[in-house]
Amino acid sequence: MPAKLRCIAESCVAEFGIEEVLYNCPKCGGLIEVAYDAPTQSASKLKKVFRERRMSNAPVDQSGVWRYREMFPFLDDLSYVTTLREGNTALLDAPLAAAYADLDRLMFKHQGYNPTGSFKDNGMTCGVAQARRLKLSRVACVSTGNTSASMAAYAAAAGLEPLIFLPHGNISFGKLSQAIEYGARTLQVEANFDEILALIRVLAERLGIYLLNSMNPFRIEGQKSIVIEMMDQRDWRAPDWIVLPGGNLGNTSAFGKALRELDAQGFLDKMPRLGVIQAEGSAPFYEFSQRHGVGEFVAVRKPETLATAIRIGDPVSWPKAWHEVTASNGMVEQVTEQEIADAKAQIGRCGIGCEPASAATLAGLKKMRAAGVVERNADVVAVLTGHVLKDTDYIYKYHTGKLETPAGVPIRSTYGNMPEVVPNDADRIAALLVKQV
Ligand code: F0G
Repeated sequence: MPAKLRCIAESCVAEFGIEEVLYNCPKCGGLIEVAYDAPTQSASKLKKVFRERRMSNAPVDQSGVWRYREMFPFLDDLSYVTTLREGNTALLDAPLAAAYADLDRLMFKHQGYNPTGSFKDNGMTCGVAQARRLKLSRVACVSTGNTSASMAAYAAAAGLEPLIFLPHGNISFGKLSQAIEYGARTLQVEANFDEILALIRVLAERLGIYLLNSMNPFRIEGQKSIVIEMMDQRDWRAPDWIVLPGGNLGNTSAFGKALRELDAQGFLDKMPRLGVIQAEGSAPFYEFSQRHGVGEFVAVRKPETLATAIRIGDPVSWPKAWHEVTASNGMVEQVTEQEIADAKAQIGRCGIGCEPASAATLAGLKKMRAAGVVERNADVVAVLTGHVLKDTDYIYKYHTGKLETPAGVPIRSTYGNMPEVVPNDADRIAALLVKQV
């Protein structure tokens, strides 16, 4: 088998079998990644294979993840795969959003178009395949909502038992609803994401449950396909920047790994830079980057943001993510609640829409452009991580002027679009709708 598990710590790089259940290195505690022997097929051959599979009706070829399976060859038997036809997400031109950020052009890679409405599906199909291969029937995660929705769906489809831990009161109702609808046993804990992650690591060990959080290295392998598919959609022309929101930093790790591997195999004409955007109240990675990675990584004890998907103060994958940001000559930015809310409304006006965490990308880009870090004519892809319907409460409050920051400060409804109540009366409605000249 050409795949193995490996510790990412440069001082260790211990290797382990691909069927071991590991989230951290048993020797040094470092994070674990999946590593492969050198590929046997050339980039030009694989580009053709990937294209041809778009014509196929085989479920694994229709999957926008497994179509690219040569880029993560950890599975020797594809019968372990459960696919809901994840990936296959649109790359959309968004001129209005581009103008908002003072860019000539901006493309959104919309991961909200996935089966459960977020990018987590790209990774979950791989994590669940590994669980099936290991014959581990109980799977668990802590989540700010999207991982749990995705895990619940894939575990249900695969006939596994999903167990979900959520920070009580701090996830959107839409995401909670998905988990229970897909049949997951759902435990709401009076603690924040970081605290529950520590809790479930203890429980997983004690009860033999397989963890499907993003420190699971197979999740990261699947999330690489977001970048691979985007490159395929662009006929392998690399953008200058790929911008994404940062929470637990699994996605940043996955994107960077994908780019390095694509580059090493000759797929890329240049290396894009990664731009990672955090919400101001939950921005330990931003703080770390401001110190250029010097000194300790300092967690935020009580992370806050209305973008609850990224309300994370102690991101597990920060060492991987930091490596990727520096390797790509990237940068980390932070944005305020007001900036996220306004950017989100702009993405909505494009007819595209997304959940709050995803809108951090446009807010961050606007700042990076204003600071001159991003050129006006730069070729930029921003990744929208979740669907507009994931958090409808936020939308309604913003447009009706009722949104407040976690500290209770009102958020201006800058681009508000208040629904109007009208009488059941054609004359009066017609009078309202007569264009003012
Ligand atoms: N955007 C959305 C919509 C998310 O749900 C998440 C993470 C992120 C961005 C951040 O990605 O953690 O890879 O840096 N949500 C996780 C969850 C934590 O539990 O659903 P990241």
